[in-house]
Amino acid sequence: MKKRIAIFASGSGSNAQKIMEHFKYSSLAEVALVLSNNPDAYVVQRADNFEIPSHIFDKRTFYESEEIIDLLKRLEIDIVVLAGFLWLVPQNLLKSFPNKIINIHPSLLPKYGGKGMYGDKVHKAALQAGDQEHGITIHFVNENFDEGEVIHQAKFKIESNDTLETIKFKGQQLEHQYFPRVIENLLKKYN
Ligand code: GAR
Repeated sequence: MKKRIAIFASGSGSNAQKIMEHFKYSSLAEVALVLSNNPDAYVVQRADNFEIPSHIFDKRTFYESEEIIDLLKRLEIDIVVLAGFLWLVPQNLLKSFPNKIINIHPSLLPKYGGKGMYGDKVHKAALQAGDQEHGITIHFVNENFDEGEVIHQAKFKIESNDTLETIKFKGQQLEHQYFPRVIENLLKKYN
């Protein structure tokens, strides 16, 4: 039976798009569900385009009920992928999917992670620090923001003529290149 992926995303969902593309014709796995806290998120439209069901939830449901866990269990989800999802994952969800929840972050963690560190803020911090290199991290999720065991990092050099826009673009290219592959490699190790 194919492995089943659930993607949580709050925004545009360009990573979700790459994952849905990657597994569209895969015999190993399929994206079974896209979940979002934001009904207006473009990721919902992207899921529709792939005819993948989406589920919108609010803060109370996420933090004060078992509804999301029940849904993921009912759909026999094997791996939970956070792709631009900015809420902390509650304990009950972590416990229900031990080592099965992964996140992507647009920096070389532990640099520039933590609450409120997302989007341009991350890249600005790297530029302001005068870093010579920047990159992305894919990691297991734990009870803290942007922590948990690192699964994969990819980096690029920051050149003297790089700007916020160019490093953002380079980081995004790496995310799109590696996230689907890392998910695939993890799933291959599952029974
Ligand atoms: C990605 O760059 C991802 O690394 C970041 O959100 C973006 C979502 O883009 N995640 C975090 O910052 C998590 N702390 P997307 O909606 O186009 O995939």
